[in-house]
Amino acid sequence: MPMDDKKIRSKISEITVNQKIKDTQGTYLLRIKDPFIASNFKPGQFVMIKSNLNDFDPLLSRPYSIFNRFNENEFEVLYRLSGKGTKSLGSLEKGDAVLVTGPLGNGFDTGIAKKSGFEKVKLSEEKQKIHVIVAGGIGIASLYFLPQYIFSSGKDIQDRAGIQNRNMDQVKDYDPGNKIILYYGSRTETELYFRYSIHANFDEVYFSTDDGTFGHRGNILELVDKNIGEYLRKDIDARFYSCGPKPMIAELMRKTGAWGLSLQVSLEEVFACGLGVCLGCVVKCKNSENNGYVYKRVCKDGPVFYSDELY
Ligand SMILES: Cc1cc2nc3c(=O)[nH]c(=O)nc-3n(C[C@H](O)[C@H](O)[C@H](O)COP(=O)(O)OP(=O)(O)OC[C@H]3O[C@@H](n4cnc5c(N)ncnc54)[C@H](O)[C@@H]3O)c2cc1C
Ligand code: FES
Repeated sequence: MPMDDKKIRSKISEITVNQKIKDTQGTYLLRIKDPFIASNFKPGQFVMIKSNLNDFDPLLSRPYSIFNRFNENEFEVLYRLSGKGTKSLGSLEKGDAVLVTGPLGNGFDTGIAKKSGFEKVKLSEEKQKIHVIVAGGIGIASLYFLPQYIFSSGKDIQDRAGIQNRNMDQVKDYDPGNKIILYYGSRTETELYFRYSIHANFDEVYFSTDDGTFGHRGNILELVDKNIGEYLRKDIDARFYSCGPKPMIAELMRKTGAWGLSLQVSLEEVFACGLGVCLGCVVKCKNSENNGYVYKRVCKDGPVFYSDELY
């Protein structure tokens, strides 16, 4: 059933894979057959999924980031068992049906930097471009597809499907000037998803865990601090993208603000409709008029925001 917006669809789709990820605590990869979404999403966008089609508990669909395009017909979601919605997802098997609406929200802006005053400008042609991705735990779900997307900028969506699942040496042919770096932190090793395979997508990867079971012991932003000198160099155009726990996002916003670096963050709020209708997900944003602020809907105006828009 097409929605008003021709770029969004709501339809019953088939699950092709629903499997627990090895060495994790209750985290699953869900693969859904939906050629429209698989070919039309941007990293940072999400889908609303209703898994229980025959009863009303839970009543509402839940939002999930679009984690990956598996191929031109199937996309993937990474989810962690938590409450009713995710437990209901966990009980599904191959061949079961779910109601999927998407792709929803805006995704990450990879081609243009934003300066203070909300003016959007193109990334510098002359400078080397460094994309710095900072993920916390399950926040990796909205960031995982970014490298493929960045390297395919300017190509149409079919080309992007074509480069999916290749390693970076192949993908780099698309724009050798770019460099993509991942900083990935979590509480413990079993919450660092794909820690042994994720290197293939990035030029550099840094890990941290609070308990020291994998990578640096401590906060992932301590590792960003160590390398910040490189990103501040005059011949570098660096931009940051992040998704993760609220304290991590707040601290990164403070740091990039002080350094004058561009940061986009994907916010998580509890959604009811996910379509911009109920106003249940608003956040306070800066505005040059209206007493200096305006409320924006995370589901419709986000979930990705430039940090200089947020309080
Ligand atoms: C834009 C967006 C993208 C998301 N992407 C993912 C994803 O890729 N993978 C994933 O596992 N989850 C994701 N979430 C969270 C997801 O939608 C569910 O809210 C969460 O998994 C809990 O749902 P539940 O029904 O299992 O639990 P519920 O029974 O609804 O709640 C269980 C617990 O989780 C808390 N909770 C509910 N919703 C959220 C939320 N949005 N943020 C933080 N805590 C919450 C509740 O307060 C409660 O303590 C995303 C949320 C948003 C807004
Ligand atoms: S969840 Fe309803 S407006 Fe955002």
